[in-house]
Amino acid sequence: MARNTQDAKKASEDETPIGPTGRPYHGFATPPKLDRHGPARIIALCNQKGGVGKTTTTINLAASLASYGRKVLAVDFDPQGALSAGLGIPTHDITTVYDLLLDTKRDPHDAIVHTRVENLDVVPANIDLSAAEVHLVNEVARETILARVLRKVSDEYDVILIDCQPSLGLLTVNALTASHGVIIPLECEFFALRGVALLIETIDKVRDRLNPTITLDGVLATMYDPRTLHSREVLERVVDAFGDDVLETVIGRTVKFPDASVSGMPITEFAPEHAAAQAYLRLARELVARGAVA
Ligand SMILES: Nc1ncnc2c1ncn2[C@@H]1O[C@H](COP(=O)(O)OP(=O)(O)OP(=O)(O)O)[C@@H](O)[C@H]1O
Ligand SMILES: [Mg+2]
Repeated sequence: MARNTQDAKKASEDETPIGPTGRPYHGFATPPKLDRHGPARIIALCNQKGGVGKTTTTINLAASLASYGRKVLAVDFDPQGALSAGLGIPTHDITTVYDLLLDTKRDPHDAIVHTRVENLDVVPANIDLSAAEVHLVNEVARETILARVLRKVSDEYDVILIDCQPSLGLLTVNALTASHGVIIPLECEFFALRGVALLIETIDKVRDRLNPTITLDGVLATMYDPRTLHSREVLERVVDAFGDDVLETVIGRTVKFPDASVSGMPITEFAPEHAAAQAYLRLARELVARGAVA
């Protein structure tokens, strides 16, 4: 009898609940501490559609990985400078990623800023970067400039995350050329999949011509609202389209993100107990479990 009860308990422990993507929802174990650092795996957060959660994901995934002892460099690669602002970094009168692109002999450390978050550094950007595409268009090997810049600091970090701007222009091609992997954030709303074919085509072209080993690390569903049928249907369609490439972790819709951005802090620092902070920590653990991050 005692044995049966024990068996029953074990069975229920083994039963992993089904998550929003329709697959078992694992907690993912806390990643083991690293005893040495680098070389970094470089991941671009990319989607030419605006406002899908690229910057929010870069900030909070970076902070989450940093909290697990990973040395993280977040590269602001958008002239809007939202990543820099979201981490409380003033962006005027400083050295930015633009200066590094323009003069690749320059030491990237000139631009690297330590944030208030332990283990998290940033290369900031500001509106100057909007001139980069025009300035770089006549450069030799213009698609590989960012790769050459990041190579110089890659050994000092475990992961480098690049927050792309909402376009598929030369800057984004530079980000994809510099990266080992790409994460595509998709907002769970009606037009989520519109344009994604073009993005995949761009990644394929970069793989063909510039960066043969780039992989799709995952599609991340953001701004998911389980209360609406609409959100659930969009997520279902995303899973139909991308299958196991859809990350199990799904980021819910919450006003905590705009609040955290205004405060210049990652949500993991601003409201660590909030479900949204927990979701990004889980995303960090999932990416380690998938081998996308050390
Ligand atoms: N899960 C979420 N729930 C609610 N709001 C969110 C969530 N994620 C991001 N936001 C908000 O949505 C807006 C767009 O997010 P974010 O800036 O991260 O997107 P983006 O893809 O980087 O945009 P852009 O293409 O302009 O760079 C911001 O105001 C952000 O605070
Ligand atoms: Mg952004």
